[in-house]
Amino acid sequence: MTILVTGGAGYIGSHTCVELLNNGYKLVVLDKLINSKLESINRVKKITGKDFIFEHIDLLDKKALERIFSDHKIDAVVHFAGLKAVGESVIKPLDYYRNNVTGTIVLCEVMQQFDVKNLVVSSSATVYGTAKQMPISEDAPLGVTNPYGRTKLMVEEILRDIYTSDNNWSIALLRYFNPFGAHKSGQIGEDPNGMPNNLTTYITQVGIGRLNEVRIFGNDYPTKDGTGIRDYIHIIDLAKGHLKALNNVLNSNGIEAYNLGTGRGYSVLEVIKTFEKTAGISIPYKVVGRRPGDVAVSYADPSKAKRELGWEAEKNLEEMCRDSWNWQKDNLYGYLNKK
Ligand code: NAD
Ligand code: UFG
Repeated sequence: MTILVTGGAGYIGSHTCVELLNNGYKLVVLDKLINSKLESINRVKKITGKDFIFEHIDLLDKKALERIFSDHKIDAVVHFAGLKAVGESVIKPLDYYRNNVTGTIVLCEVMQQFDVKNLVVSSSATVYGTAKQMPISEDAPLGVTNPYGRTKLMVEEILRDIYTSDNNWSIALLRYFNPFGAHKSGQIGEDPNGMPNNLTTYITQVGIGRLNEVRIFGNDYPTKDGTGIRDYIHIIDLAKGHLKALNNVLNSNGIEAYNLGTGRGYSVLEVIKTFEKTAGISIPYKVVGRRPGDVAVSYADPSKAKRELGWEAEKNLEEMCRDSWNWQKDNLYGYLNKK
């Protein structure tokens, strides 16, 4: 079976490629390398000892995409390619709609043209907006607060319309909670271009001294210690969720959304403390004001993925901290380091 992976050089994509290769899938990976480096592809090959084709193209380049589908017999697509910075999406909404929404439309047009109708897609817990009930299940009301979130919701709705028009499609919408951690080899991990946006990358970069201190966005939330609570999920568990979803998509028709989370929430302070203990270093921090648009608490009800995909997260917060630190301390400048 040959799988096209879009955005496969990125954080979640590279870890998923390792799982897919280790489970016998052949891959064609495409990436424009706008938030990633070619070195991640080399390391995926090194970790797995398997080769695959890498295409340095833009998903929006329809001709190039058609060439890929005509050169290879693609059985399914795992679609990660997208822009993901919430703040940037507010400043450059058109870039986000064009890349994330139009990119997905171009992909689906070409898939339809080549009669490939099996698709696993990156969605996000962001589609739940400010959820009223915890844990969040897939049938919770949807609502978004920024252009990035809206692209994810639009993509989900577009894909539902495609399925309604043609029941031969088989689509899994994977709503990720907060990915953290790295491959145990320390060879691949998260390496964002520029300033990190998320808490976990911020912590590891403070750990190595690239950044001075973590700013905690508010300690006056209605939570046990006043800081925001999220559902952190180990990147390897997340990658395995894609494998299970892909197996399911290849053996059924329909469109289903699945939460990929652990079902357990940790506060910002708990994450910092656990990281300090696991890595054996101190992480300076200071409390600043709330970040606009943040919710107090968000954690998943992951029972649907367990019931229907046979998947559940296995790794705990200590393992996420340990593996992230293992990656970051050996790759101070991410993939720019030689290793
Ligand atoms: P990432 O930025 O590390 O990876 C995305 C990859 O897509 C990058 O390698 C980038 O170069 C590539 N890309 C973007 N636009 C492209 C285009 N037009 N053509 C070709 N390649 C393109 O991000 P990630 O964390 O691995 O996220 C993967 C997906 O998961 C994204 O769709 C993101 O929105 C979604 N997601 C991420 C998180 C998170 O916290 N990391 C949470 C929820 C959802
Ligand atoms: N936080 C800080 N300081 C920071 C960064 C974050 O205190 O420097 C806090 C936030 O206020 C929040 C928690 O840490 O309470 C997690 O924040 P992240 O930015 O790491 O993650 P979010 O939950 O805000 O959002 C992330 C992605 C979204 C995605 C969502 C769910 O940025 O795109 O996870 O998957 F939708």
